[in-house]
Amino acid sequence: MGTKIDLGPNGFIYPMPVTLVGADLTAGPNFMTVAWITRVQPNPPRLACGLGKGHATNIGIREHREFSVCLPSTDQLAVSDWCGLVSAGSGADKAAMFSIFRGALEHAPMIAECPLCLECRVERVVDLGSHELFVADLVATWTEERFLDEKSRPDIEKLRPFTLTMPDKRYWAVGDQVGEAWSVGRSVGGQPPAE
Ligand SMILES: Cc1cc2nc3c(=O)[nH]c(=O)nc-3n(C[C@H](O)[C@H](O)[C@H](O)COP(=O)(O)O)c2cc1C
Repeated sequence: MGTKIDLGPNGFIYPMPVTLVGADLTAGPNFMTVAWITRVQPNPPRLACGLGKGHATNIGIREHREFSVCLPSTDQLAVSDWCGLVSAGSGADKAAMFSIFRGALEHAPMIAECPLCLECRVERVVDLGSHELFVADLVATWTEERFLDEKSRPDIEKLRPFTLTMPDKRYWAVGDQVGEAWSVGRSVGGQPPAE
């Protein structure tokens, strides 16, 4: 082991997923690129995402208390980056770049080109200062048969999502599977005690 060096209080959570968060604005549907997003609870199923207060998307989410989260594949790399470069607040019509569909919620526009989309209903909004943390209940997940494995679960090799690293601002494809979760640890620690 080498000597540790402190890089300061940076959020080096490697890597981050790249998603497109959709909301309805007065002008119509809008999508913004979001990497600060994660599942936070399985039951009831919830996720949370941190969105800067100045984004147009926040206005739509606050108004309707509904939004979508779509996972783009590497096929949508450039258009996903574009959704993070321009704001609907400056007149950009980002929704025009996609085919939009809707599911169970009235105000959760989703992107047909994305292999997986989630519908979310806001449970609470936490004011963090510069950002708002939207904690949301998951309402539905939309995909297509061709993105599922033999047990009808989303198959990451078929979804082909991509990830982000900061502060170098680079996108990465997902690499090889390296193990089985909740399992490979037994090879070093034996059978875990029952919970
Ligand atoms: C790869 C990438 C990831 C981003 N992740 C976030 C994020 O997690 N939270 C956030 O507030 N902004 C994030 N942004 C910035 C917004 O996507 C960007 O400011 C966007 O233009 C906001 O759009 P809107 O004003 O139309 O809502 C990200 C941008 C990129 C390129």
